[in-house]
Amino acid sequence: MAPTGNFTEAQAAAVKTVTDRFIVTTERLQKIAEQFVLEMEKGLDHQGATVAMIPSFVSGRCTGEEKGNFMALDLGGTNLRVCQVNLLGGGEHTIRQQKYVVSEELKVGPMRNLCDFIADCVDSFLTENGTGGNETLQLGYTFSFPILQTAINRGVLKQWTKGFNCSGAVGKDVTILLQDSFRRKNINVNIAAIVNDTVGTLMAYAYKHPNTTMGVIMGTGFNASYYEDMGKVKKWTGDKNQEMVINMECGAFDCERRVLPMTIYDNKLDRESINVYQQYYEKTVAGMYLGEITRNALLDLVDQQILFDGHSSRELNRNWSFETAYMSTIEVDETSDLSDTGHILESVLNVASTTLADRQIVKEICQAVGLRAARLASCHIAGVMKHTGKVGEECIVAIDGSLFEFYPNFEKNMGQALSEILGEQARSKVKFDLARDGSGLGAAIIAMIASKN
Ligand code: BGC
Repeated sequence: MAPTGNFTEAQAAAVKTVTDRFIVTTERLQKIAEQFVLEMEKGLDHQGATVAMIPSFVSGRCTGEEKGNFMALDLGGTNLRVCQVNLLGGGEHTIRQQKYVVSEELKVGPMRNLCDFIADCVDSFLTENGTGGNETLQLGYTFSFPILQTAINRGVLKQWTKGFNCSGAVGKDVTILLQDSFRRKNINVNIAAIVNDTVGTLMAYAYKHPNTTMGVIMGTGFNASYYEDMGKVKKWTGDKNQEMVINMECGAFDCERRVLPMTIYDNKLDRESINVYQQYYEKTVAGMYLGEITRNALLDLVDQQILFDGHSSRELNRNWSFETAYMSTIEVDETSDLSDTGHILESVLNVASTTLADRQIVKEICQAVGLRAARLASCHIAGVMKHTGKVGEECIVAIDGSLFEFYPNFEKNMGQALSEILGEQARSKVKFDLARDGSGLGAAIIAMIASKN
């Protein structure tokens, strides 16, 4: 991307050096997709692979005829959601839901406190909605972190991601921990199923569109799920004669650093994160991280005296202060003097003063980081299609998450990259569909399937 605008030669050269680092060529995309297929196969072959490929215990397809009243919880993004879902059949449903903010303190404190908080939220939801009664309510628990499942309602936490780091949880069964809190507080709810958000999204979309192929989250975090023929899963010792949804945990892809194009800005972010050397793919794609990568690149330019006349601000110097949402605003800023960008830099981040060239530079860095994220995000879809032999076939990918929904041109850029990997003809058969807030509905459907069995 050649710098435009009123840059000096030195600015143009320095900005080009930075933006070039974020370029992902067609050849590189293809190599990443190929490596992704290999890593998927390792994950299906044995336990402990980088891409964990976790069987979800959700087998069979949705028909849309599932019925009944179920509770759902959704933990793992920005908020906790408590939902009550009424499945009406015919692909229809009603949902009542309430969001609760999970404080930063709870995210890194003892797990018992987090579980007690969740139980209190469920209690107040039931009181407010008058749904508590004598009958035990069945609940689907969307817990959006890597858990190794041993049954539909059993799962041991492998590690935390996305800024959560509660003590006393890794290596433990998180359904038992939450069920304990319900019991201690006399809340008459049974956790019938534990569900990853990608699996919930896939099931929710499949309730209306039964031939949905993949469920993907591109929000605070990044991950995907798809249907696998269990006969092909060597590590699976259960019934091989069935299809099952696999929670890929693909955000962990390439922690060996074989193919992902990591820049010095990514390395700095990783080193300062609470899960060092982990979740590399997620860290280049997900909303939690893009702002921080951008901040690191901007500070590099400040230090070279290319940006803001060499002056940062206390806010901009603070880790994680540059939110990914700012990037969206900056990317769509079409005002002649980039005043929206100026507002974020000067009023929100307290940079003393910015020139038009400064704002143009910031916009170019945001574009470079956002474009790379969308291009890299297409590789796992290409990988799943190659692995399942679906290249050239109709394929519906249900995607939830703020990045996909709100980030400018994210879908377009992903589509372009996918056509570079698979060819235009095969790309045209793939449909990316927004599946907003699907995991609540999905978890309720899975709770229904589980309690029926
Ligand atoms: C977690 C996944 C989750 C994804 C999206 C990742 O950090 O490891 O389990 O699906 O975020 O929420």
